[in-house]
Amino acid sequence: MKSIVAIYPGTFDPITHGHTDVVRRASQLFEQVIVAVTTNLSKTPVFELAQRVQLAQQVLAEYPQVTVQGFNGLLAEFAKQVQAKVIIRGLRAVSDFEYEFQLAGMNRILIPEIETLFLTPAAQYSYLSSSLVREIAILGGAVDAFVHPTVLKALQERMRR
Ligand code: COA
Repeated sequence: MKSIVAIYPGTFDPITHGHTDVVRRASQLFEQVIVAVTTNLSKTPVFELAQRVQLAQQVLAEYPQVTVQGFNGLLAEFAKQVQAKVIIRGLRAVSDFEYEFQLAGMNRILIPEIETLFLTPAAQYSYLSSSLVREIAILGGAVDAFVHPTVLKALQERMRR
């Protein structure tokens, strides 16, 4: 598996310890992991794409084989462009499964040569989501247990606006 390029797509609004845990696991399996930051059309992100990319780059700087790229458009097209063979998705709980199964099935039709691989984050991150982190931060709660200090700072700055 070592020469295979894997991509880990998501909104990362913002990147949390749960995402980082999945990236760490993927980086132990693949020589190159591309964290592919995009905008899910059914969501309105709080952070602009460029800032979500920048935050992920800062948080993941300690992983030499991991790069972060932003993209717009179809994941299948981006995966083809970067010659990825694997799409990584994190499965936190059974409730994630239905959507992920659908996404994997559609991507298989769009680009049959790529496999979707599911990784589970460590148990303490299975309840974590970016929107809950944002909500806690907006309401003045502490989110330092869930995000990197760089992200914490960005959240605090965003809340001040
Ligand atoms: N730890 C913590 N949280 C996690 C997590 C983990 N390991 N894995 C997922 N999450 C959370 C995210 O923070 C996010 O939380 P939120 O909804 O509260 O913001 C939620 O789970 C969804 O995760 P995410 O990975 O961001 O998925 P998404 O549903 O926003 O994105 C895309 C799905 C981006 C991969 C999909 O929309 C896509 O491929 N878009 C490109 C366009 C395209 O090709 N469309 C056709 C697809 S067939």
